[in-house]
Amino acid sequence: MRKLRFLICLVVVLLSWGCSPGRKSPVIGVSQCSNDIWRDKLNEELRVAGGFYGVEVQFTSADDDSEVQMEQIRTFVRDGVDLLIVSPNQTQSITAAVEEAFDAGIPVILFDRKINSDKYTAFMGADNTELGRVMGHYVADYLHGKGRVVEIMGLEGSSPAIERHQGFVEALQEYPGMQLVDSRYGGWVKEGGSAAMRQWQEEGLAFDAVFGQNDRMARGAWEVAGDKLPYFGVDALPGPGNGIEDVLNGVLVATYLYPTQGDRLMELAMDILNGSPFERENRLESALVDRQNARMMLMQEQEVTRQRENMNQMNSRLDATLKEVDTQRLVLILVIALAVVALLVGVLAYWSYLRIQELHRKLEESTEAKLSFFTQVSHEFRTPLTLISGPLEKVLASPLAPDQRKSLEIASRNADILRRFVGSILDFRKMESGKMPPHFTRFDLSAAVREWLGGFSEAAGGRELVLDLPSECVIEADMRMLERILYNLVSNSLKHTREDGRISVKLRADGTRALLEVEDDGEGIPADKLPLIFDEFYQAGTGAGTGIGLALVRGFVHLHKGDVKAESELGKGTRMLVRLPLSHPGEEIHDSVDAESYTESFEPLHAEEDSTQAEALERVSESESAGPSVLIVDDNKDIRDFVASVLRKDYRVLTACNGKEALEKALRELPDLVVSDIMMPVMDGLDLCRQLKAETATSHIPVILLTAKSLDEQRAEGYDSGADAYIAKPFSEKVLLSRVSNLLRSREALKAHYLETGGSIQSSAREDDFLGKMRRIIREHLAEPELSVEWLGDQMGLSRVQLFRKVKALTGYSPVEVIRITRLKEARNLLQSSDKSVSEIAYAVGFSSPSYFSKCYKELFCTLPAER
Ligand code: FRU
Repeated sequence: MRKLRFLICLVVVLLSWGCSPGRKSPVIGVSQCSNDIWRDKLNEELRVAGGFYGVEVQFTSADDDSEVQMEQIRTFVRDGVDLLIVSPNQTQSITAAVEEAFDAGIPVILFDRKINSDKYTAFMGADNTELGRVMGHYVADYLHGKGRVVEIMGLEGSSPAIERHQGFVEALQEYPGMQLVDSRYGGWVKEGGSAAMRQWQEEGLAFDAVFGQNDRMARGAWEVAGDKLPYFGVDALPGPGNGIEDVLNGVLVATYLYPTQGDRLMELAMDILNGSPFERENRLESALVDRQNARMMLMQEQEVTRQRENMNQMNSRLDATLKEVDTQRLVLILVIALAVVALLVGVLAYWSYLRIQELHRKLEESTEAKLSFFTQVSHEFRTPLTLISGPLEKVLASPLAPDQRKSLEIASRNADILRRFVGSILDFRKMESGKMPPHFTRFDLSAAVREWLGGFSEAAGGRELVLDLPSECVIEADMRMLERILYNLVSNSLKHTREDGRISVKLRADGTRALLEVEDDGEGIPADKLPLIFDEFYQAGTGAGTGIGLALVRGFVHLHKGDVKAESELGKGTRMLVRLPLSHPGEEIHDSVDAESYTESFEPLHAEEDSTQAEALERVSESESAGPSVLIVDDNKDIRDFVASVLRKDYRVLTACNGKEALEKALRELPDLVVSDIMMPVMDGLDLCRQLKAETATSHIPVILLTAKSLDEQRAEGYDSGADAYIAKPFSEKVLLSRVSNLLRSREALKAHYLETGGSIQSSAREDDFLGKMRRIIREHLAEPELSVEWLGDQMGLSRVQLFRKVKALTGYSPVEVIRITRLKEARNLLQSSDKSVSEIAYAVGFSSPSYFSKCYKELFCTLPAER
């Protein structure tokens, strides 16, 4: 997980490096007051220079509207531009917005026009007063110092309009023959110039020359009045319809170059942004243009324009190349990232592979260690086992008392089981290590199966064993191995099938293969466990044996080049399918079975539930004894017998071989105590315990759970089910006896308590409830002489016998006695609290004879009711 996170981080870092645009470029906002060709030229120069410096330049134009310009400036401030260039539409109205930007810490350069404040960073522009002055002198000289002049001014309130006028007036004043007859605002636009000229014509004003504060307005006037007057302008822009060409084609006499110089403006901006020293006030040099220098000016301007265009193109190419480099860098980074990831994944995969190999090796080692341990232990067991079985058989052959015989038979039977188990392990080892090659003979499998299963009928107990075999099925196989396969499959089914269940064995041949099927209707195997049941040491569930039997089946089947599989459905049963080739070409086929190569594991199935005689004995022993009764529940008959033999001396013993049978017996017989195994087929001990505690009739019966597992968790589960005690196997006779007698004694103590107090036995809330309910019913119906035990049983949901046994077990009294005691106690209460007569009280509590009432009362309380 940590490695995966590292990989992801690495890729993200690489990618973000690859995608990063580098250092963020500064943004310069340019707020233009107007939208015209002079501004276009300036903007273009700024854009080209901006590209050169790698800054982003954003432009707005207010279309000669101060309100609009203020809003545009404020937007730039909100957007957080790094520097502002402003050409204020009007001096006064734009001041506030510029001050705000300046106060917000944004450097502001005023260009060409001014504001009414010194809150700006720098100014750049031509000297408009000087410009006006030069034009005044030029017009005066043109008119030889004598004449009437009109002036078309720019926008009212804009600084160039004011300053140009001032300079123009100053110059004219130097010529006594010169007179400025009128000045009108034209708003810097051509229409403004035309309108002024029209007004003068309408007014009949006579003048000798027209000065437009820019070329556009002068041309506007020319368009109205035509060539009869000399016109003078400002700006000197190149291009058709602009100042320089208008001088060349005679529309204007002269104009004045009003410089844009966007490159210098950008240079100043960069100095400010970079923190380099800069001049606050920057004057742009300028010059007058008339017929003498106009061509030259035009050529120069054209050259500059051409170079600017060149630069523009180079800039675009540079941009494209940079973009390409960026993409290539991203691709390169991606490739590197992928290569790194692939490398790491490869390293991880190899590392995991090594780990898995290592785990496999360890697992194999541990399995091998387990197996060799078992093999060793098995070998160790064989001699002592033989030394147990042999002498036992000898003793059993001699005359014995029935009790002794029974015990020795148990011992002998279990020594056999152990011997077979030991044999299985040794066979498994032999098979695994390849020391058990199949010894092929040719035989009729159908007849063999019939014969082998003959020995099972007893072991099957009440289970139905159905055979479905063809008349003949000749096979080449190792006969003892096949017998073993069948033996283990059927044993496995027997273990998992109820006593009234059914096991069927089917054999079919399809020409090349024999198909052997063993099917049961037992508890089934959970789907997730199914693939594992043929693994050694695997146990599918309760009582599933040692986990060697089915592994041996698989091993033997594989030695025959066959296959085996299991199908199962929980609660419905299991089907084992074995497929074996009918012939083994190339293998030596022997004439007779080799008996030498096997251990003694090949023995007929042990008679687990063998003799009917034993059952008869069991029944006798069940009924024989007196004293408290104990129900012993275990699926293993030997354990049942052992526990019974321990308890029989002091208790009446009942037995059951699973939870279901035990529950039925307990409800019928109401034993005084139940001793039950936990792991059993059909119904396990925990379920049995839960059900006993849930039934009214049996809830008071103490339950002791026996189990081979002594884990705390299972112990807790045992107590959760309501068990009163828990004994872990193997247990000693003494522990069992003392646990049983302790539990029964504590019951007796509770009864004694009841006898003393006549009150609750306080064994458990449940039993308190039971007795409380019973006493309430009795009290409510005291007066009714027909209050009988049957009726009370009905009310409590128990039969007469169940009620008797339960009440007796809980209180030591019979229900009749409990009814009588309750009546007498109620009578004593009435005697003490009321002044009714003794007879009245006797009838009131349900006695039909006052004298019998007095007798009973004296017996219980040792005084006569009359004595009160
Ligand atoms: C352009 C312009 C020029 C003029 C200048 C004065 O917008 O009107 O024609 O010389 O502005 O600021």
